[in-house]
Amino acid sequence: MNLRRELEKRISKALVAAGAPADSPALVGPSKRPEFGDYQANGVMAASKKQKRNPGELARLALDILGNLDGLADSVDVAGPGFINIKLSSDFIGKHLSLMQGDEKLGVQKPERKDTVVVDYSGPNLAKEMHVGHLRSTIIGDALGHVLDFVGHDVIRQNHVGDWGTQFGMLIAYMNEIKASHKDLADLEEFYKAAKQKFDEDADFADTAREYVVKLQGGDKEVAKAWEDFRDVSLHHCEAVYDLLGVDLKRGDVRGESFYNDDLPNVVSDLDKSGLLKKSDGAQCVFLDEFKGKDDEPLPLIVQKSDGGYLYATTDLAALRYRVGKLKADRALYVTDSRQALHFRQVFAVAKEAKFVPADVSLEHVPFGTMMGADGKPFKTREGDAVKLMDLLAEAQERAFDLVSEKNPDLPEDRRREIARVVGIGAVKYADLSQNRTSDYIFSWDKMLSFEGNTAPYMQYAFARISSIFSKNRKNETKKTAADNILIEHPAERGLAIKLLQLPEMIQGVCDECLPNLLCGYLFELAGAFMSFYENCPVLKADEPQRSSRLALCELTASVIKKGLQLLGIETLEQM
Ligand code: ARG
Repeated sequence: MNLRRELEKRISKALVAAGAPADSPALVGPSKRPEFGDYQANGVMAASKKQKRNPGELARLALDILGNLDGLADSVDVAGPGFINIKLSSDFIGKHLSLMQGDEKLGVQKPERKDTVVVDYSGPNLAKEMHVGHLRSTIIGDALGHVLDFVGHDVIRQNHVGDWGTQFGMLIAYMNEIKASHKDLADLEEFYKAAKQKFDEDADFADTAREYVVKLQGGDKEVAKAWEDFRDVSLHHCEAVYDLLGVDLKRGDVRGESFYNDDLPNVVSDLDKSGLLKKSDGAQCVFLDEFKGKDDEPLPLIVQKSDGGYLYATTDLAALRYRVGKLKADRALYVTDSRQALHFRQVFAVAKEAKFVPADVSLEHVPFGTMMGADGKPFKTREGDAVKLMDLLAEAQERAFDLVSEKNPDLPEDRRREIARVVGIGAVKYADLSQNRTSDYIFSWDKMLSFEGNTAPYMQYAFARISSIFSKNRKNETKKTAADNILIEHPAERGLAIKLLQLPEMIQGVCDECLPNLLCGYLFELAGAFMSFYENCPVLKADEPQRSSRLALCELTASVIKKGLQLLGIETLEQM
């Protein structure tokens, strides 16, 4: 159960019953001062202010109605001018944890409304090889997909790859020119560079390249075939990266720019029909009052260039119509870097204005900042090139292998390699996901591979350690330890228990705000609460029924950490 939401509902109702205006939110959150209680409701002040009423009096009336919240609380009191403090009852905590044990959803309930959520993420440009610039979109989008899925929404993944446009004419022309085999495309970065050089230096070749673009758009069979071949090779490159990252994107999720090509003229003519189109310097544009540039100049969204070509925005308008019309999205998320913020604000506004999208569909840009090198500048190779994602992930595994070998020199090499894969890839992903996505962050191998702090190795190691506690126990007792009654006695036991109970409300936050770092932060705190429990409360040496109860707490903690990491797309190992 979502404890926070439950308390919010009940206390809001009590406030209204005590005479507060209808819809007065209770504003419940975990208490900042645990000595006063576990949760705190701060809504009394705002509600009483509206009525020019004494907040203390409103709070006390509400308390009379709340009582002990049907056994949920040990105490509900008022502090200060009208804060309501709630201390949960051990009985309630224990009961709910017992229920959580047998529940594969770990207490996370179905959403009040099941949404179809389209998640647009990764979206690399297929003309080149995936580089670090695609890392954040790929792993943040994937984690959000997992969480929304886990909560019970219908998630539709969309990989909006760049697979159309003038670059492809150049690449196909170059394929022809050198009679390229698959081997020539093994390194797409090199291939692209060579094609580009030829294009810049050789005017005849550049003309051929332009002809190919026209042919491709005109549906020429041979050119289309070459384009398909190239695209297929490039998608294979992406899939190798997705496999290594453990990312859930499949071929069927690819709906690139080319997919919308036929609809682009319709987008423009429909905008025209709704009276939104305006010609400006020969280009077809939409101007909306809310978008102004410098000096209050109206800012256009250009949908067709003067030469007839379409743009990124046109394709996105077509994609939106598809997502809402065909895929039936209630919510569409776009995980891209924050530099595209204006683009999406304009596209969303135009789509709503043109009635391509009903007003109640939620269109959300999920922006993120830049990954920086140690020098505080965008992460690049020493030569100033973009770092290939494959190279970065290979290095992560190599570095993790050295660490693992140092810690466990006696393990067989293949075992060390496997641990290094899980730790190395996990470290790169976790380092990214644990940051608030809206800020830039500094990519640091030492930090992300550290076994201390809010890192993947720390969390993975915590999981392995906790697992070892009950696997020691299982040697004698084969079945899972399920305690009928989880006993909450020691303060550290209580602290851990409450953290565990807070999983559903934290997951809700991740869904609402698209912030995977909330999940990382939660897991880190959970691991901390576990450590203090384990230091203070003997488990295997305790007497029954405490022993079973504490073992059950260990198992639950391990399950929550494992599930949490899995939702982030990070693997765990029972032994490290
Ligand atoms: N291909 C784009 C890029 O590399 C990302 C696509 C994002 N999705 C979208 N619907 N525009 O920046």
